[in-house]
Amino acid sequence: MQKIVSKCINGLSGEISIPSDKSISHRAVMFASLAKGKTLIKNFSKGKDPHSTLNIFKSLGINVDYLSDTEIEISSKGELIQPNKFLYCGNSGTTMRLVSGILAGQHFDSVLIGDESLSKRPMKRIIEPLTLMGAEIEATDYHAPLKIFGQNLHGINYVSPLSSAQVKSSILLAGLFADGVTSVTEPYVSRNHTELMLKYLGANISSNSNTVSITKSTLEPKDIYICGDISSAAYFIVAALIVPNSDIIIRNVGLNPTRTGIIDAVKLMGGDIEILDCNEISGEKVGDIRVKHSDLKGCEISGKLIPKLIDELPVIAVLATQAEGQTIIKDAADLRNKESDRISTTVCELKKLGADILETPDGFIIIGKTELNGGNILESYHDHRLAMSLFVAGLVCKNDILINDFEWTNISFPEFEELFVKIS
Ligand code: S3P
Repeated sequence: MQKIVSKCINGLSGEISIPSDKSISHRAVMFASLAKGKTLIKNFSKGKDPHSTLNIFKSLGINVDYLSDTEIEISSKGELIQPNKFLYCGNSGTTMRLVSGILAGQHFDSVLIGDESLSKRPMKRIIEPLTLMGAEIEATDYHAPLKIFGQNLHGINYVSPLSSAQVKSSILLAGLFADGVTSVTEPYVSRNHTELMLKYLGANISSNSNTVSITKSTLEPKDIYICGDISSAAYFIVAALIVPNSDIIIRNVGLNPTRTGIIDAVKLMGGDIEILDCNEISGEKVGDIRVKHSDLKGCEISGKLIPKLIDELPVIAVLATQAEGQTIIKDAADLRNKESDRISTTVCELKKLGADILETPDGFIIIGKTELNGGNILESYHDHRLAMSLFVAGLVCKNDILINDFEWTNISFPEFEELFVKIS
């Protein structure tokens, strides 16, 4: 589907409520499937990725009752059964990497497959540590399909070269089925939804600075309410900051401190952003945010901030085009391993609009403030986050833009456009 985006003249105003967090939705399905009994999951994502996870667990013997389009009840016997088909992860790296950890320690064999993009993404990062735990995984050149031969696993102390929640979670989930203690240490703390939800469901898990440890555990079935996704809120945060005369309230935003890097970055840039209130639900922080159009200045985004805003970097690049001076984003080389090579795809498409942006090996350098011209056809490279970031750029372009393959936004955020219309 091609999407035309025109300049937003009157500013964005009003209130929206952000739909379900993708990362937490995946974990809710996985962990509920491992707990014996019934789990009610409220505010489950409508995105395609979490539904890939849900379908896989149905193939692994879990029963799902659809109570509404965002409410499901999972019934599990507390153990998985051998699937009679390949398990399709679609576009979802989180599904493939986390489910691998779970399947590595089962008493049956299974095969995980993905779409074209996922089949090109690196799996060595999980195959290596899982193999150290005794897993047997066959993959050509460390890429999907992954053939997993269930084994008895043992704990390890893994010092990860990456700050990656997918790697950390894969190992911790294998640790749920392994003998002894499994520990993962990462350079900087990545999103900790796995740790929080496993703890909420009664697992033996503990964290100490950058290290998380787990031992074999039985999970309890407990209702899970999933908060809104700050990565989805990011498009609205940036849009309100850059479109003149904007003032919006974004409700139900997940405010887990391992995910709020976008708020930190906006503050560094001098943006007018305010957290209105904050509660805790199912072990996660959630609150409302008010954002207004602001005069912005460039900043440096690097180091421990990167894992806290990794998925927001394409839209932060758009933000930086509207900030005075230089914005440097570095230490983000892993962006090249996402649904597209987000360093080169972001740079290529923003350059088409007239942005002053330079590709570096581990990020980008942007000089602003630039008036974006538009009048172009842009590619989304089948990457949901790039498609939505380009839409936001279109709101401040002089001329209309056209974005190809815009339907890929359904991977994480099918409600994206409808919510934009609400505040336009
Ligand atoms: C995710 C972790 C991040 C993120 C992805 C979702 C998760 O990946 O980019 O969209 O749910 O654990 P990495 O942990 O590999 O950086």
